[in-house]
Amino acid sequence: MAKPRIALVVGTRPDAIKSAPVVLALRRHPELCETLLLSTGQHREMLDQALAAFGLQPDRDLGIMKPGQSLAGISCAALEGLDRAMEELRPDYVMAQGDTTTTFIASLAAFYRRIPFGHIEAGLRTGDLMNPFPEEFNRRAAAIVAAQHFAPTRWAKENLLAERCDPSRIFVTGNTGIDAVLAVAEREPQNWFPDHKGRVLVVTTHRRENWGEPQAAIARALRRLAERYDDLLVAVAMHRNPIVRETLLPILGDAPRTVLMEPPEYARFVKLMQRATLILTDSGGVQEEAPAFGVPVLVLRETTERPEGVQAGTAKLVGTDEERVFAEAARLLEDPLAYAAMAQAVSPYGDGKAAERTACAVLRFLGQNAPEVDEWAH
Ligand code: UD1
Ligand code: UDP
Repeated sequence: MAKPRIALVVGTRPDAIKSAPVVLALRRHPELCETLLLSTGQHREMLDQALAAFGLQPDRDLGIMKPGQSLAGISCAALEGLDRAMEELRPDYVMAQGDTTTTFIASLAAFYRRIPFGHIEAGLRTGDLMNPFPEEFNRRAAAIVAAQHFAPTRWAKENLLAERCDPSRIFVTGNTGIDAVLAVAEREPQNWFPDHKGRVLVVTTHRRENWGEPQAAIARALRRLAERYDDLLVAVAMHRNPIVRETLLPILGDAPRTVLMEPPEYARFVKLMQRATLILTDSGGVQEEAPAFGVPVLVLRETTERPEGVQAGTAKLVGTDEERVFAEAARLLEDPLAYAAMAQAVSPYGDGKAAERTACAVLRFLGQNAPEVDEWAH
């Protein structure tokens, strides 16, 4: 084959953060491949912000985001647009990460055009199709068509084997999100809250399953924590979705020492995680990143497709019940032994070399002379 053309498809903030290291790794081999970055534009500001952190701009942007968009609406617009882009650009290989609708549709568009699809962050499962919704479906559907599965951990590989995926097509790489977080961690100075000498609770919540009452319960628990501990600053990085804000603002708008902020740009957010005493989140990516800095995470969900942090003892599933969220956070804020047990800097999710492993495996699949690399041994 002449120099193959590889298209990475992104649409949301985590797509950008986890795909960027792979784009950059492939672009370090310009003699072996041409690498294009396609964006559905499922997100706008949050996507642009995340790509900018890596100095990347899409080669093609479908710009599909609409306020209040539906899953069907994003899916139709992305499928039509990606199909057209694939017809025109004729990639030899298509890649996308994780479980977003952009990723599922990228895999489907590649399948319809019989282009091999490489799935980054493959094999995570909760086993419950409705949780997270629709992400569990998106991830499983991408696995059906994938020609190569880049599993971040051995556990993820086991899930794929249980679904009878071809073992020779599965590579344990580590999570490319860890490559990203390590690359940006040293870049920004630590200048969060210079006048606050006390503890900081960092919060993100955006999952569909948590919209409405679960998010209201989380917000009430946060308010009680801010009222109880007068050295505690509660920093909430608010997702851009108006549905999330409509719940959080009325409950937390006038809470003491509570900062409701626009989502900080990625490198700044990483510094915020490093400043945190404790993180409460329903985000997938944040669950993976925080252990790299030894910051305990309470996961605001009933299930997680990322059990490794829970097993390592750095994360705990607490759900969204107000009393439970309040009590679990209070315990860590009051009991130094319980806190110390969780505040271990371990990274069960990767060693920062996932993108290079992924790039080499893709290039070899495409018949290029790239080195054979060892899997990540976790
Ligand atoms: C999407 C993903 C979810 C991922 C999350 C990361 C799907 C089905 N969901 O959920 O898996 O965890 O991204 O953040 O793929 N908005 C803006 N500006 C932005 C981004 C979003 O205004 O930059 C608003 C828009 O009103 C948009 C709404 O947020 O309609 C929802 O965005 P959408 O991508 O549909 O869902 P997310 O909840 O962001
Ligand atoms: N993030 C960010 N700014 C924020 C909140 C999160 O840059 O205000 C980063 C975070 O470090 C992680 C990613 O966004 O890398 C996670 O995205 P999100 O929580 O939106 O999606 P998920 O991982 O749950 O799919």
